[in-house]
Amino acid sequence: MKEIEAVIGANRYTVQIGHRIMMNNDELRKKLSVDKCAVVLSNHLYDLHWEYLMELLGEYTNKELFLMQDLEENKNYLYAEKFLQGFADKNLTRDSVVWSIGGGVVGDFAGYCASLYMRGINIVQCPTTLLAMVDASIGGKVAVNLRSGKNLVGSFLQPLLVTCDTFLLSTLPEKEIKCGLAEIIKHALIGDTASFDILLKHNLVSVQKEDVLSELIYNSVKFKLSVVSQDERDVSIRSILNFGHTVGHAIESLMEYKGITHGEAVAAGILAESRISKDMGLLSLADQEKITALLNQYDMGDGSISCDAKSVLGHMKFDKKNVGNSIRFILLKELGVPLYGGSVPNVPNDVIISALKETLRE
Ligand SMILES: NC(=O)c1ccc[n+]([C@@H]2O[C@H](COP(=O)([O-])OP(=O)(O)OC[C@H]3O[C@@H](n4cnc5c(N)ncnc54)[C@H](O)[C@@H]3O)[C@@H](O)[C@H]2O)c1
Repeated sequence: MKEIEAVIGANRYTVQIGHRIMMNNDELRKKLSVDKCAVVLSNHLYDLHWEYLMELLGEYTNKELFLMQDLEENKNYLYAEKFLQGFADKNLTRDSVVWSIGGGVVGDFAGYCASLYMRGINIVQCPTTLLAMVDASIGGKVAVNLRSGKNLVGSFLQPLLVTCDTFLLSTLPEKEIKCGLAEIIKHALIGDTASFDILLKHNLVSVQKEDVLSELIYNSVKFKLSVVSQDERDVSIRSILNFGHTVGHAIESLMEYKGITHGEAVAAGILAESRISKDMGLLSLADQEKITALLNQYDMGDGSISCDAKSVLGHMKFDKKNVGNSIRFILLKELGVPLYGGSVPNVPNDVIISALKETLRE
């Protein structure tokens, strides 16, 4: 098992990465040795891995089980009320711990509930998708959605422990693997150079080997923690993690989150925002071509998304990171060197449209 020590503000905790590490795990036992632990568990994961999970949960006599139907539309505060009432019905106290086992939907939702119950109780995060391991469970953002947009209501809650058990990834469909890979590639392009070198040597099949994937998870988590530790509240450098997401979110919202995965949207966003970086005279043509080639290597290339460029631009104007009327991009100065905040030049609309046209199928 590999471990990373996270130091985020006053919080110190460990992120563990390895195969079948949830079983017989002393650190997990220690964190969950409280009056009660409320296990918020994905129903889908329970069906897929019930034998493993039942053996694991059997170790904990102080548990109360709360199965969650892990759909994005359930990430809302009305559904949360049911869980919060359940916590009270089972007499959870301020010393109790929420134990989240599932993808990013479960982690965000369970974290939101934990941050509210009795004005905030502790959480242990056991992410079970690649995206949740390298992104959603790392950094302490927890939230639910409103009709007006995703993740609009939430808070910051750093966990007591994060356990990335790669054994569970064996059942993850390829489209979900690609969602996690899109975030790993994003981290590689904005500074996680160790992962960039590994990614170059593999493809969508070979990257899924246990040892390769766990090394990428390790590097990616370490990188995200290094960024978050400098800016927990997302007021400065943490915004670099938004690379590829200004365009990506606009595509998802234009398509009303149907017929497209988050990974596909982010991959298109990375391509478009790399092209903008090149057209603004920042990134070299050679580096921009390397990025396109890397995404192609993982079957996340150009032209797979059919969307009108002007409509995507229209949706980018609603991005919550914008300041006034100007769209806030994260651009690349070179591979591994992002620009953010005041150092990013204003990008003219015709540059954005041209990059979108090159990336999308209209
Ligand atoms: N808090 C943050 O910083 C942050 C960052 C990124 C994303 N998010 C949030 O994360 C969510 C997306 O997370 P996600 O990509 O993990 O999606 P998800 O939680 O919807 O999981 C994707 C699918 O995989 C299934 N699944 C989970 N584990 C599995 C396994 N081991 N084997 C097979 N199937 C499995 C789930 O049941 C689901 O059908 C979004 O709600 C997003 O807003 C949060």
